[in-house]
Amino acid sequence: MRVVICENYEEMSKQAAKLVISQVNLKPNSILGLATGSTPIGMYDKLIEANKKGEVDFSEVTTFNLDEYYPLSADNDQSYHYFMNEHLFSKTNIPFERTHVPDGEAANPEKECEEYDKKIDAAGGIDLQILGIGQNGHIGFNEPDKNLIAGTHLTGLTDSTIEANSRFFEKKEDVPTKALTMGIASILKSKKIIIMANGAAKHEVVSALMTPDITTDIPATMLKVHSDVVVICDKEAFYGKQN
Ligand code: PGA
Repeated sequence: MRVVICENYEEMSKQAAKLVISQVNLKPNSILGLATGSTPIGMYDKLIEANKKGEVDFSEVTTFNLDEYYPLSADNDQSYHYFMNEHLFSKTNIPFERTHVPDGEAANPEKECEEYDKKIDAAGGIDLQILGIGQNGHIGFNEPDKNLIAGTHLTGLTDSTIEANSRFFEKKEDVPTKALTMGIASILKSKKIIIMANGAAKHEVVSALMTPDITTDIPATMLKVHSDVVVICDKEAFYGKQN
């Protein structure tokens, strides 16, 4: 695991965007794994800017998002479909038909999950996966548990995730209690992984990434078995609250 410690959120966003831009410039038909949440928004802004300036062309890129709430319709403004359209897809030249987000309205979620993994495999696998990290160590919606699940699956959300994500909803009761998420193996199959974290609230979990320990209680520690992971974080996430 390589670590890049950035001065602040802006710098973290710039560094992560640089790696995505290099990836796409080196391999224009890259398969990108994408994440939602507040962490990658600044990076998406940089990608939009670079795309507008002609510094990167997304016209041959294919994307797969990590997760989606379940059940929730794609046009709900809290859905991850909506988030991605708002923060990236509609503002770049990524062909919409090459973007994929698990279907939060799938009548048969198990089948949807199985097909999602097949689609990733058929596309040739993810070249570069972007990840945020939950305060509890989740990646995607792989929550701390005794057992983690390899493939894309339907999962329940922990109270701490529901609490953390309630800031985007009118009230906590509105946060869906389930989600479809790529599994740990779906994520680990990616050729390269960037995990981003900012703010003192992520310090404890970023510190857990810096130890030799791997535990399903902190799912992100599973990334330590992968040979090409870069942690891009700001000073507060790495060192804790700065005075
Ligand atoms: P955040 O979420 O970027 O909103 O902090 C990260 C995550 O839950 O993966």
